[in-house]
Amino acid sequence: MSGKFTFTMIKPDAVNAGNAGAIIKMIQEAGFRIVAMKKTKLTQERAGEFYAVHSERPFYNDLCAYMSSGAIIPMILEKDNAVEDFRTLIGATDPTKAAVGTIRNLFAKSIEANAIHGSDSDENAQIEGNFFFAGTERF
Ligand code: CMP
Repeated sequence: MSGKFTFTMIKPDAVNAGNAGAIIKMIQEAGFRIVAMKKTKLTQERAGEFYAVHSERPFYNDLCAYMSSGAIIPMILEKDNAVEDFRTLIGATDPTKAAVGTIRNLFAKSIEANAIHGSDSDENAQIEGNFFFAGTERF
């Protein structure tokens, strides 16, 4: 079993569609505790920083434009085995491949507008959580 924390953000497509409440309910019912949460908006430059690891990918510019197109809801979550369990809850990046009943299967619109992000390692969970919540209170 790995670490106790992960990072997520509900993306602009899901916030715009009014699905944030349903998604947060699924997250809590799956046993995750919300340690930090806010509603905010990225500039295109900040989106580029967050996704810098993908800067050589063909979809990078579109992704940054999309991620700065509307409000997002970033959160830090706590649960045993948080990173792996959360990635199971959200399903595959491509919603056509996401398992039935996962958050992306239920709410994602496309491989880009895929409703929600989940950290892929304990190390990235810490980096991504600090990107949004450095210096702010966690509960
Ligand atoms: P996320 O899990 O936040 O990590 C990187 C994001 O890039 C991903 O979700 C999608 O929003 C986006 N992405 C990944 N692969 C593609 C792709 N092939 N085409 C467009 N966007 C993608």
